[in-house]
Amino acid sequence: MIYNLQDTTTLHNGVKMPWFGLGVFKVEEGPELVNAVKTAIINGYRSIDTAAIYGNEEGVGQGIREGIKEAGISREELFVTSKVWNADLGYESTIAAYTTSLKKLDLEYLDLYLIHWPVEAKYKEAWRALETIYTKGQVKAIGVSNFQIHHLQDLMKDAKIKPMINQVEFHPRLTQKDLQVFCQEQGIQLEAWSPLMQGQLLEDEILKEIATKYNKSVAQVILRWDLQNEVVTIPKSTKEHRIVENSSIFDFVLTDEDMKKIDEMNENHRVGPDPDNFDF
Ligand SMILES: NC(=O)c1ccc[n+]([C@@H]2O[C@H](COP(=O)([O-])OP(=O)(O)OC[C@H]3O[C@@H](n4cnc5c(N)ncnc54)[C@H](OP(=O)(O)O)[C@@H]3O)[C@@H](O)[C@H]2O)c1
Repeated sequence: MIYNLQDTTTLHNGVKMPWFGLGVFKVEEGPELVNAVKTAIINGYRSIDTAAIYGNEEGVGQGIREGIKEAGISREELFVTSKVWNADLGYESTIAAYTTSLKKLDLEYLDLYLIHWPVEAKYKEAWRALETIYTKGQVKAIGVSNFQIHHLQDLMKDAKIKPMINQVEFHPRLTQKDLQVFCQEQGIQLEAWSPLMQGQLLEDEILKEIATKYNKSVAQVILRWDLQNEVVTIPKSTKEHRIVENSSIFDFVLTDEDMKKIDEMNENHRVGPDPDNFDF
């Protein structure tokens, strides 16, 4: 059972990762970004998810510095993720991309570094680079994002180190049960992106009915459903009241029946690109 905002899952290499964190996709450099990261940390968040392609690593770094200072915590108490972009997939280029991300964030290490998308014929070399970075002790954990089962199987044929994380689109309309089971069997922690389906599920009648029953918001019900499914979740918000709202999900438990009702909302519907058919 997950009891509070700072509870962690233990990845297969023993590293502890918070079940809950803040996403910052589509948040541009500037005070809104810095404040969102800082506000999250002050309100107890211990995990921040960014990526090179978001173009906001400098502001995320500033938010982290300001947040840990105000919260009175150390860098080591925070879990920071970034991702190598497709254009940089390659052995040397991925290692260089990692160094660039560290510089922009102004951090000495990341807790998690991910291959952002499974670009065919490129992800294996990039994975070798992540293995090197990890083996040298420059990152605490490595993983992938948007990998389907067949991508994972292909990667693991040659990998020395198994990915610790697979971060994928995951919400009540896209529950990816087969992938969930596969990752569980392999000891790869599943992590949800766009857990709120980018805001498009908030008026759903089934979710509204469940939310009313628990005196919670729809967003809170979805995020609680993630945790009870043992999926790490990183909702994005730049608004303080929603940053607080989204993380106030540790004082209720969805019944098995309600979990099932939400599971059954699946329509295999994506709001983001299809990992088997993307052109970037
Ligand atoms: N690996 C990948 O390929 C990938 C792809 C996409 C996303 N991600 C990661 O996953 C994170 C989350 O996904 P996401 O940003 O796409 O979407 P999301 O978290 O599902 O939804 C974010 C949207 O919902 C709104 N929102 C948040 N909390 C709310 C609440 N309590 N009530 C009402 N509206 C609320 C936000 O608006 P406000 O900001 O105005 O509150 C924003 O418009 C990203 O930020 C990123 O870090 C990764």
